[in-house]
Amino acid sequence: MAKQYKVAVVGIGMVGQEMLKVLHEREFPASSVQVLATRARTETIDGRDYDVIPTSEEAFEDVDIALFAGTEGASGAARQFGWAAVERGCLVIDNGGDFRMDERVPLVVPEVNADAMREHQGFIANPNCSTIQMVVPLQPLHHEAGLKRVVVSTYQAVSGSGRAAVDELERGIHAHARGEEFSPEVYPHPIAFNALPHIGSLKDTLPGYTSEEAKMVFETRKIMGLPELPVSSTCVRIPVFNGHSEAVNLEFERPISAERAREVLADAPGIVVQDDFPNNVYPLPAAASGSDPVYVGRIRQDTSVANGIDLWVVADNIRKGAALNAVQIAEAAIDMGLV
Ligand SMILES: NC(=O)c1ccc[n+]([C@@H]2O[C@H](COP(=O)([O-])OP(=O)(O)OC[C@H]3O[C@@H](n4cnc5c(N)ncnc54)[C@H](OP(=O)(O)O)[C@@H]3O)[C@@H](O)[C@H]2O)c1
Repeated sequence: MAKQYKVAVVGIGMVGQEMLKVLHEREFPASSVQVLATRARTETIDGRDYDVIPTSEEAFEDVDIALFAGTEGASGAARQFGWAAVERGCLVIDNGGDFRMDERVPLVVPEVNADAMREHQGFIANPNCSTIQMVVPLQPLHHEAGLKRVVVSTYQAVSGSGRAAVDELERGIHAHARGEEFSPEVYPHPIAFNALPHIGSLKDTLPGYTSEEAKMVFETRKIMGLPELPVSSTCVRIPVFNGHSEAVNLEFERPISAERAREVLADAPGIVVQDDFPNNVYPLPAAASGSDPVYVGRIRQDTSVANGIDLWVVADNIRKGAALNAVQIAEAAIDMGLV
C-alpha cells in the first residue's frame, strides 16, 4: 500500500478551507488531517467536521506535511511556527509571502520548476496568486522562443483579499442599487462598479510599484530562474468575486507565430486554451471560478514589436493561485521522494 502522510493545515480562512476541499477531492494520501488555527473549535467544511486546535510548536511533533494558510507578518502562523515545524521534521509549504524570496526557500509552481524542490531545506513557498497563473503559460513559451520582456496588467478578484473583501463587494453592490452612501473598510475606495489600481502598498524594493506588482516582478524571475528578466506589472482590483484575469504582453528572442504559441500552450501541463473569438470563446473569470486549470485565450501577434505575443490568462486565484498549487507541491514532493 502506498505511504500515507500525517498532514496539518494551518489556518482555516478562505485558503485553508479550500485546501481541505482540494486534499479531499484529490484523494491526497493522508492518514490524518489536523487543522490548526488561533483557537480551538469545530468547523464544518463541505459537510465534513474538523476539530481545530490552537497552533503551537508541539502540534507539529508528529506531522509529515504542513500546509500553511495563516495570515502573513510577524504575528502570522508562518513566521511564528514555520521553521519550528521544520525543526520537528515537517515539510512546510507556505502560502503567504513571508519567505518567498528567502534564499533557503524554493518558490514553486510544479508545472514550471518542480526541480527547484530537490535542494529544499524543509520549507517550500507557494508564489503569489497572480504570479502563479502567469508563469504557467510563460514557461512553455520561454522554452519555445526565449523570453525577452514581460508586461502584464491584472484584473484581480476580491476573494484575493479574503472573506471581508467578498462581503464588502456584496454590500457595496446593494448600497449602490439602493442609491445609498457606502463607506469601504477593506479597500480605500468603493470596489463595486469600480477599478482600483492599488493592490498592496508602495515598496522601496521597486519605486512607484505596489507590493503586488513587485511580487509579480521578483517572483517571476525566481521561479523561472531568469534573474534579469525585464518584467513590468500593473495590478488592478476589480469587482469580480473570484478568478483573476491578466492581459500579458510578451516579447521573445526568436520569432514565434500566434499559431505556434497556441499549439505550445495547448500541449503544456495545467493549461486549457480557450481561443475561438468568432464564437465568443475566451477565458472568463466567472467560468474559471471553482476549477483547476489556467485558461489562456486571445492569443495573438503583437505587431508593435519584433517577436511579440499577447495573451489573456484567467485562473481561480484561490485554487490554482493558492490552495491547489500548495497541494500540488506536496504531491510533487511525494512523487519525487522528497518527503
Ligand atoms: N498564494 C496566494 O497568492 C494567496 C492567495 C490568497 C491568500 N494567500 C495567503 O494565504 C494566507 C491565508 O489567506 P486567507 O485569505 O485564507 O486568510 P484569512 O481568511 O484571514 O484566514 C487566516 C487564517 O489564519 C489563521 N491564523 C492567523 N494567524 C495565525 C497564527 N499566528 N497561528 C495560527 N493560525 C493563524 C486564522 O485563524 P482563526 O480562524 O483562528 O482566526 C485564520 O483561520 C495569507 O497569508 C494570504 O496572504 C495567498
